[in-house]
Amino acid sequence: MPNRTLLIAGNWKMNNDVAEAAKLADELAQALPEVPAGVEVLVCPPTIDITTVHDRIQAAPIALGAQNVYWEAKGAFTGESSCDMLKSAGCTYCIIGHSERRDYFHETDEDQNKKAKALVAAGLVPVFCCGESLEVREAGTYVEHVVNQVKAGLAGLEITCPKQVVVAYEPIWAIGTGRTASPEQAEEVCESIRAAVRKLYSSKNARAISILYGGSMNDKNAFELLAQPDIDGGLIGGASLVPEKFVKIIEAANQPNE
Ligand code: 13P
Repeated sequence: MPNRTLLIAGNWKMNNDVAEAAKLADELAQALPEVPAGVEVLVCPPTIDITTVHDRIQAAPIALGAQNVYWEAKGAFTGESSCDMLKSAGCTYCIIGHSERRDYFHETDEDQNKKAKALVAAGLVPVFCCGESLEVREAGTYVEHVVNQVKAGLAGLEITCPKQVVVAYEPIWAIGTGRTASPEQAEEVCESIRAAVRKLYSSKNARAISILYGGSMNDKNAFELLAQPDIDGGLIGGASLVPEKFVKIIEAANQPNE
C-alpha cells in the first residue's frame, strides 16, 4: 500500500461557547505541539468560535474548518457565511452534507453540489459527508444510496489535485449512538466510494482522495478502523470534545503503513 496521510478531524457540532472553545483549543494546542508525520489534524468548531480557535491554534499543527457555508459570495442571506468569510477567519476546510444538516435543515444533494463547487473555487477543501439511515442499511441498498449521494454531490466538481476534496462516510445509525460500524462494514462502503470517485476523476486522483469514516469513532475503535485500506482518517464528533480521547485517536492514526 502506498504511504498515505491520515486526516483526523473533529466536528465539534453545536458545542462550546467562546470561552469553552478557547479552553479546548488551548488544550489541544498544548497536547499537540507536533503531530506524527503522515497524520493531519483538523478541528471544525461552531462558526461563532472560529476566530477564537484560530488565534489559539495558529502556532500548532492543527488545521481549521467550518461546519457549514453558503455558496453565494455576499448579500442578503441572513445567518449565512460565505467561502471568503471562512477563509478570512483562517479556515482551510469546511464540512458539507452532514446528515444532521440534510435531516434537520432539509439540505439536498443539489445544495451540497453548489457548496462543494463554491468551496473548491475559493480554495477551500470540502469535507463532503454521505451516509445511510438504519432503514436503508437494513433494506440492503446502502452502497447504492451512498454512491448516489457522492455522484450527486461531486457532479461536475473539477479538481486538479486530490487534496482539493475529502469525502466522509458517516452511517447515520452510527452517529452519536455508540454503535460504530465494524471495520469491515466501514471498509465495504469506503471502497465503493473510492470506486465511484474513480469514475469521476482519474484513477490516480481517486487513490489519493482522502475518504474518512465517521460515527462513534473513539480512542478504542480508531486503530482498527484506520487500518482499513480505504479509510484515510476519521470525522469525530463526541470524542473530539475530549482532548485525551482526540489525542489518542491521533496516536492510533500514527500506525506503520504496510
Ligand atoms: P460521533 O463521533 O459523536 O458519533 O459523531 C460523528 C459525526 O457526526 C462527525 O461528523
